[in-house]
Amino acid sequence: MAFPYNEKVLEHFRHPQNVGKIEDADGKATEGSPACGDMVAVYIKVDPETKVLNDVKFESYGCASNIATGSIITQLAKGKTLSDAKKITWKQASDELGGLPAIKAHCSVLAVEGLRAAIRDYEERHGLVTEREPTTEAVIKRRLRHVMNPLRGLDVVRTDLIKEIEVKDGVVRIVADLAADHQFAPVIKADIAEKIESLWDVKQVVIEFVG
Ligand code: FES
Repeated sequence: MAFPYNEKVLEHFRHPQNVGKIEDADGKATEGSPACGDMVAVYIKVDPETKVLNDVKFESYGCASNIATGSIITQLAKGKTLSDAKKITWKQASDELGGLPAIKAHCSVLAVEGLRAAIRDYEERHGLVTEREPTTEAVIKRRLRHVMNPLRGLDVVRTDLIKEIEVKDGVVRIVADLAADHQFAPVIKADIAEKIESLWDVKQVVIEFVG
C-alpha cells in the first residue's frame, strides 16, 4: 500500500510548529470532530490595538493530518489580523501542505475550526461580535456539539448525555445524564460552562447531573 502522506505533511507531523498551550491566552477553544471524535485545542494572543495575532499555539489529540494542519494554520495565522485569520480555509491549509488524502479532509477542517472558534471566543469576550443571535435551545445544542463525552469519544449531544436544555431570562439550565460524583462530571461541567458562559445574553449557567 502506498503511504498516504506526502513529505511536507510528514515533516509537519514529525516537527510540528507552535505546539503547546498559552497559559494567559486571550482566546481559546477546544473543538471536537464529529467525524472521528478527535480533538484540537487552539490558543491565541491578540494585540489589543491592532487585533493582530501575536501568537497562536495548538494541542492536537488527533491524527497526523490534524497535527500537520495545526502546524500549518498556526504558521499562516500568526501575524495576521483576526479578520484575515478567520478567512483561512481548510482547503488553503491542505494546499499549503501539498494535499491531504480525501479521507482526511475532516482533520484539517477540525484544525481550522479550532482556530476560528478561538478567534470567536476572543471576539465574544471583547464585545466584538456584531450579529447578536439570541441564545435559544438550538444555539446551546449547537455549542454542546463541541463538548466531548470522554466516555464515548463523541460529543455530548450525539451520545445522549444531555437530557434537557432550558433557556429562560438569561439563565441556561442543562441536565446531564451522569452521576454527579462520576470522575468525568467536573471536566464535562467545566467544558459546558466554558462553551455557554461567553454567549452575550447568558447571565448564568446551571448544570445538573442526574445519572
Ligand atoms: Fe481524527 Fe484525523 S482522524 S483528526
